Amino acid sequence: MDKVEANKKAWGLLAEDHYSNYKRQFETNRYALNPIVQRELGDIAGKKVLHLQCNIGADSIALAKLGAEVVGVDLVPDNTYFAARLAQDLGIAAVRFVTSDIMELMDNHQGQYDLVFTSDGAVGWLPDLKRWGQTIRHFLKDDGFFYVHDAHPFYLAMDEEKLKDGLTAIKYPYFQQEPDEDSTIGGYACEAKEATNYFWMYTMSGLINSLSEAGLFIEYLHEYDRCVPGMGGTTPDGEGLLFYPSLEKALPLTFSLKAIPR
Ligand SMILES: C[S@@+](CC[C@H](N)C(=O)[O-])C[C@H]1O[C@@H](n2cnc3c(N)ncnc32)[C@H](O)[C@@H]1O
Repeated sequence: MDKVEANKKAWGLLAEDHYSNYKRQFETNRYALNPIVQRELGDIAGKKVLHLQCNIGADSIALAKLGAEVVGVDLVPDNTYFAARLAQDLGIAAVRFVTSDIMELMDNHQGQYDLVFTSDGAVGWLPDLKRWGQTIRHFLKDDGFFYVHDAHPFYLAMDEEKLKDGLTAIKYPYFQQEPDEDSTIGGYACEAKEATNYFWMYTMSGLINSLSEAGLFIEYLHEYDRCVPGMGGTTPDGEGLLFYPSLEKALPLTFSLKAIPR
């Protein structure tokens, strides 16, 4: 089976469980954008936002609650179905969802946005970063901006089991071109499921060059020794982000980047 098709099938297995989990979190006021994103995004009231790889729309809904008009995009029909249902359950009208592979979004969707947004567990599911950069530029207004917060590629190269003991060892080669094949998916917002899936390593230069070559200027690149729950770390900080105490200030876990059209 095609690798993107395998990922589509795998993510689809989690859709309903993710919907139930995030619905509970919203209904008990426990869901919000992660604190790094909240600090860095600025005022988005009135802005048109394109949210790439929105899963069941939790962040799309959180962005809409800040006053933005949001379109969330995801590969998986069940994700966009449950995303729309979640928005309806919560009475959020300023958000709608589109089903598409990001790699094909330029053919499947029309629109111009003030902000293209993606976060936490997104980039590595895409096989072609060059096309990712082009897609972002394509949908941005000339005075708009792109924002991403995601796993740091150097962190993704590490053996996750050893990190728990404060040890660093490369398990996934940083420059590997072929995707890593895994037999389970999820586990961060519901029980993991058995399904073959593929994740592509990305490098910091790959990220930056794809955006730069697409006509974007990098306004900032930030690196953090913390990540959102489910992406790693053993110990929560005061804001609910997780870190490895013995690797604090030693290993970057996430990055954020803001880019604007040149
Ligand atoms: C870890 S989740 C992202 C979660 C995100 N932080 C959020 O807002 O909830 C990754 C998402 O990427 C989607 N995805 C994977 N490959 C994709 C592709 N080629 N095009 C569009 N979405 C894709 C999956 O269906 C999944 O919902």
